[in-house]
Amino acid sequence: MNGSQSSDKDRSALQRYLTPEISERLQTKKTCYGYTLEQLIRSGVENPDSSIGVYAGDEESYETFALLLDPIIREYHHYDPVTGHHRSDLNPAHLRISNPDPEGTFILSTRIRVARNLHCFPFGPAIARRERLIVECLIADTLRELTDELAGRYYPLSGMDQATRQRLIRDHFLFKEGDRFLESAGLNRDWPEGRGIYHNDDKTFLVWVNEEDQLRIISMEPGGDIARVFTRLVRAVAELEKRLTFAYSERLGYLTSCPTNLGTAMRASVHIRLPRLSADPERFRRICDRHHLQIRGVHGEHSESEGGIWDISNRRRLGITEVEAVTEMAEGISALIEAEKAL
Ligand code: ADP
Ligand code: ARG
Repeated sequence: MNGSQSSDKDRSALQRYLTPEISERLQTKKTCYGYTLEQLIRSGVENPDSSIGVYAGDEESYETFALLLDPIIREYHHYDPVTGHHRSDLNPAHLRISNPDPEGTFILSTRIRVARNLHCFPFGPAIARRERLIVECLIADTLRELTDELAGRYYPLSGMDQATRQRLIRDHFLFKEGDRFLESAGLNRDWPEGRGIYHNDDKTFLVWVNEEDQLRIISMEPGGDIARVFTRLVRAVAELEKRLTFAYSERLGYLTSCPTNLGTAMRASVHIRLPRLSADPERFRRICDRHHLQIRGVHGEHSESEGGIWDISNRRRLGITEVEAVTEMAEGISALIEAEKAL
């Protein structure tokens, strides 16, 4: 791999940053859980069309393989992982936003998720079958203690019938088996054992267990009341944090298997109808870029839009606080709605 062609936007971050020198220096390194460079880069090697191409196997990967990971993190998050200190702000009182679409014309639903992994276990790409079951059990037991609006039930995927699973996926509540990127990273091993979903009766609070990260804590509801969705999420995270210790570093915030999720590990999205604006893809993308927004299809990452409906979310997660990430998303959504209205 040749770092000298780093202007080539079509190549993955892995291809651009893994120079022969860095490869040589990292070749013999191993984390305390035995994660190697070969494992770290396997997904990007097997899938040359990756945008990033690496997955961390544990907390220590971010230190052991910093020579490769730091430049990738710097580029994706516009944050200096060497000198930076990540700050968290999960206080809903600091949020100064209103519903960008109070009439409900454009926004169908709002979803905010954060990723978390347990301190003292390898992450999904490196976890052993038995450890994954222990992680599932620890998380499910913790979730059972939640009360009020957060009270719900844990449903392991193994026992779930096909029709229920398909319905939950179709309705945007449940994850599918990992795509080829996750497959190469080892995240589909022993599928579906050890995986599951927790949700309350209204499905406004959900937790995915042992998907790409050990926990994906999710708050979602119809409409565009972003502040309410954030407030519910924050309450849930605080309750879980009383009982579980999450992998965290001052430098990189919450630690996740994919470097794109570091920091807040938060993706705040709306499903939004923008048929006119999105008919002009260049303009659509320009407004999204200006507000650091990411465009996804209606069935999540690597999916297509349907009927002019898009999943729009914050792109940056590290080096900004949760309140800032949500604010950035809400302001960008207002700009998109203004542009759609003007057409
Ligand atoms: P993640 O956010 O967990 O990184 P995905 O892009 O795969 O991952 O999305 C997971 C699921 O959440 C998909 O079914 C997607 O359609 C759904 N989803 C995302 N945003 C929203 C939203 N604002 N409203 C409803 N469903 C959503
Ligand atoms: N590994 C894939 C790539 O590099 C996905 C990266 C971001 N998405 C994710 N789900 N972590 O293109």
